[in-house]
Amino acid sequence: MNALELIKSRRTVQSFSDKKLPDGILRSAIDAAIHAPNHHLTWPWFFIQVAGARRQKLADLHVKLKAAKSPMTDVAQAAARAKILESPTMILAGLKKPAGDKIYSDQTREDYASLACAIQNMALFLWSENVGLKWSTGGLVRSPETYSLLDISIETHEIAGVLFIGYPKVTPRIAERPPLDQFFRTVE
Ligand SMILES: Cc1cc2nc3c(=O)[nH]c(=O)nc-3n(C[C@H](O)[C@H](O)[C@H](O)COP(=O)(O)O)c2cc1C
Repeated sequence: MNALELIKSRRTVQSFSDKKLPDGILRSAIDAAIHAPNHHLTWPWFFIQVAGARRQKLADLHVKLKAAKSPMTDVAQAAARAKILESPTMILAGLKKPAGDKIYSDQTREDYASLACAIQNMALFLWSENVGLKWSTGGLVRSPETYSLLDISIETHEIAGVLFIGYPKVTPRIAERPPLDQFFRTVE
């Protein structure tokens, strides 16, 4: 597959098989991530793999946050919990906040852009190995309790995504893109 075919075939995966990932593939994905461009070489990212008991606790927290928004049946709660636990691998990705950066500064903006590049690098590398990734920005990303569960400070870190990684159970259909010329023009 050439680069354009790889880019165009990648899909956000919504359901994962329980097949384990090959040894080393995750470290290679992080290696792809840290080769993303980052302005002034701020190396702003962090990637924390969450497994075992802490992942169970994050699943519990996810259900608690969802149920606080609107009441859920036991069945819905079990399904929401299972969604967090389904993929063989889960990573919380984010940014280290620049010291004293109280407002959404240019650096934070550029660091977030770099994180998006890093996650796309991961997604494309993984897709070339037939492994899917979903970048999720649900309630877990914003909850202070997630920071406590990961032993990181909300003062110095910003969680920007939960990355679910694994072999797709189903590969979703492409969300058809609007025509290219809607986004591109030349001026002279
Ligand atoms: C910053 C960001 C946040 C996203 N958050 C979610 C999310 O919370 N839940 C979800 O199902 N997909 C999420 N996505 C995936 C998009 O919905 C997905 O990219 C879009 O539907 C197009 O599908 P594709 O990735 O297969 O092209 C997110 C993507 C980005 C870039």
